[in-house]
Amino acid sequence: MDYFTTTSAASRRASGCLIVGIYESGKLSVAAAEIDTASGGAITRLRKRGDLSGELGESRMLTFMEQTRADRIVVVGLGRHEKFGVPEFRQAVAAAVHAIRGCKTQDVVNYLTLEDVKGTSAYYLTRYTVEGVGTGLYDFEQTKSIRRNIKTPIGKIGVALKDRGDQSEASTGAHHADAIVFAMDLAKDLGNLPANICTPTYLAQTAERLARQHSSIKTQILSEAAMKRLKMNSLLSVTNGTVEPAKLIVMQYKGGAAREKPVVLVGKGITFDTGGISLKPGPGMDEMKYDMCGAASVIGTMAAVAKLKLPINVTVVVPTCENLPSGTATRPGDIVTSMSGQTIEILNTDAEGRLILCDAMTYARRFKPAVMIDVATLTGACVIALGHHLTAVMSNSDDLARSIASAGIAADDRGWHMPLGDEYDQQLKSNFADFANIGGREGGAITAAAFLAKFAEGLTWAHLDIAGTAWRSGSKKGATGRPVPMLTEFLLQRAGVTP
Ligand code: BES
Ligand code: MN
Ligand code: ZN
Repeated sequence: MDYFTTTSAASRRASGCLIVGIYESGKLSVAAAEIDTASGGAITRLRKRGDLSGELGESRMLTFMEQTRADRIVVVGLGRHEKFGVPEFRQAVAAAVHAIRGCKTQDVVNYLTLEDVKGTSAYYLTRYTVEGVGTGLYDFEQTKSIRRNIKTPIGKIGVALKDRGDQSEASTGAHHADAIVFAMDLAKDLGNLPANICTPTYLAQTAERLARQHSSIKTQILSEAAMKRLKMNSLLSVTNGTVEPAKLIVMQYKGGAAREKPVVLVGKGITFDTGGISLKPGPGMDEMKYDMCGAASVIGTMAAVAKLKLPINVTVVVPTCENLPSGTATRPGDIVTSMSGQTIEILNTDAEGRLILCDAMTYARRFKPAVMIDVATLTGACVIALGHHLTAVMSNSDDLARSIASAGIAADDRGWHMPLGDEYDQQLKSNFADFANIGGREGGAITAAAFLAKFAEGLTWAHLDIAGTAWRSGSKKGATGRPVPMLTEFLLQRAGVTP
């Protein structure tokens, strides 16, 4: 995607489409007001007629506007003027993109960047614009024989600037956004593909393809035999019920000094979660194809890091397999010895994510991580706690949790710091093994994290539960690409490349 900046007045700008706005009070955005004046009050007349509400996310497309040089002008509702901040800005851009889906416009210029958006900068406003347009145009049609082919041919995204001096910040923002959109698209594609296509082998091939495309990434795939030699019995216990081979994917990116310790990202890659012998109920089970969204997000983030050639070291580790019931599947009550030597009583085979993650985390110690972050669609309890809005962040380091949470705010892909503690640990007690893999219904998202914490001893570690944020259900069912923006932002900040 190409991008450009402009300081010309909206009414003078030749374009396929301009984005301007109107607040709930009827106040026009800077560019809408300028167009209104140039066109002899055309927007004000529409407003008086009652055609423009100003409600956040509402939009109207105007065409054949006199005294302007754009083919289309989308007027988006901006909500309350006092409340117009980053989330509102992003929602407005998304609404505008929604309004032009299917239109044959070759470019779009966002003039909402001239508004006073609370707590942000030209860099972020440009980034949100390019991200908003890019992600708004996402379509998943790979698995349809009848394609709607409504692709919008937008090849250029413009951003209006108040000040020419902001140009270099803006172009950095656009460049970063481009990589984030690519990474989110990849994560969404992997999430949306069904489990009969997106198998552990398919995920491994995706990682190998990225390594072919970027010489800075080295990928290694470990087979079940290799995992057996490493004594990854906890991970392997999850794949017992399926004939589909499990894989451990390792991707290493070296953009920093050779001796600098890497950020290690571990992503849950359950390509389908039936629950195993502790079988899940039927309705909605199809959505368990999304149980590899943690893996998809860390692989996507790796792609963004390589595209941006960030001056840091990043390692991705993805344990991936299916969780199916069969005559060879793991039974409730079975006890396994994890790679760390700790024994686990598997009281519920549906709590499988932690069983594959713990061995992957133990394996990842060999990379001497500066920090380790695991990302997983781990618990239904997390969805109950935070809904679909925020990612749960648990950590054995308050500093790390804080920087992840603040990266989430900057990227507008937010998380919420949740506690850990001995009380939760107690819930995992087992009569027969070192501990059990479940801790009861209460505080389920936290006891899952408490389980993982037992494998993070001595590491600076955080756990992201993305069960609520990685995909949407209902008529808009689909992967969201989250938390790619949060993770990428965290790494951009670590690399020191955000202005
Ligand atoms: N993949 C699920 C978590 C999940 C459930 C994500 C619903 C999104 C929506 C995970 O493997 C799981 O089944 N967790 C169990 C844990 C329980 C058995 C302790 C759960 O949350 O029910
Ligand atoms: Mn499960
Ligand atoms: Zn699962």
